[in-house]
Amino acid sequence: MNPTILAFETSCDETAVAVVRGTEPLSNVLSSQVDLHARFGGVVPEVAARAHVESIRSLTHKALSDAGVHPDDLDGVAATAGPGLVGALLVGHSFAKATAWARQLPFVGIDHMEGHLMAPRIQFEEFVPPAVVLLASGGHSQIVHVRDWGDYETLGHTIDDAAGEAFDKLARVMGLEFPGGPAMDEASEGGDPTAVRFPRALPDRPFHFSFSGLKTSVVTYLEKAQESGDLPSLADVAASVQEAIVDVLVNKTFKAVDETGASVVGGGGGVLANRRLRERFADEADKRGVTLALPDPVLCTDNAAMIGVVGAHWLSEGRLTDWTESVDPSMVL
Ligand code: KG4
Ligand code: ZN
Repeated sequence: MNPTILAFETSCDETAVAVVRGTEPLSNVLSSQVDLHARFGGVVPEVAARAHVESIRSLTHKALSDAGVHPDDLDGVAATAGPGLVGALLVGHSFAKATAWARQLPFVGIDHMEGHLMAPRIQFEEFVPPAVVLLASGGHSQIVHVRDWGDYETLGHTIDDAAGEAFDKLARVMGLEFPGGPAMDEASEGGDPTAVRFPRALPDRPFHFSFSGLKTSVVTYLEKAQESGDLPSLADVAASVQEAIVDVLVNKTFKAVDETGASVVGGGGGVLANRRLRERFADEADKRGVTLALPDPVLCTDNAAMIGVVGAHWLSEGRLTDWTESVDPSMVL
């Protein structure tokens, strides 16, 4: 059975709606609030929630019309239930539940991180368990051993900042715009990743990450370089900072691939849109002859198609969400 699902994602600063049939997105629309939050240098929760309210209705119409699907043809409705900003989550979750209730359709509340984890299924038929997946976004960084769908062993996670948060904070220190990840990616263009050797944290803990110390060392480095007047180019610094983050993400993920013997490696979350990370993933997968399942960047960053894929999966398995259930901002995969 390939159910047709109307899916919503509003956990942070993107209002996203999609229509998905099985693992195939029939439409995938999004309204980004980046410009709205840029002047604050970060996402303002109340501003995010209000912007979701403003755009969710028209985006739903667009998702249905782009897909050429009439609401009568839907088999279910899915929405992100957590983790994320409570007000933002509530907008999409309540709207989705009301839509499902009014149309007498089943409703499935979805874990945002399971969305990122299953996103590779959209483009890669070969992405099946057992697999190793790196999830790296603005709020989370973890290496997951996918033993089966729904059977996830987190091998390691960050003990402080998430990788995306590290990109965002470091970009700010370097005077780059918000959000920092894409800005760093762009600024590193043509830079030498070996120009400055920044520390790689937690070498003794195989699968855990720590990124907070990196910020201190970059700040100290920049201050000293400025004092001495010997400041390398922005591209060199950006490429070196990026390499320090990418290096640990790649090395630890592929250590997990080696230890679990998984023949498939995937990734999800905004950081997986990073060009250097994708290059390194491709090299390491190639070296080992393992299948690489990295979705296109637009399916790595927040979107509703990934929520629809998870919704279709659990609906097919008969796992529905009770009407009384609400959102859970600190949901754990
Ligand atoms: O998954 P996502 O879109 O939203 C969350 O669930 O958090 O991830 C957003 C994070 C932000 O921290 C952003 O700076 C980072 O992903 N990001 C990137 C890139 N694109 C987005 N980090 C590095 N390189 C990129 N190209
Ligand atoms: Zn995300």
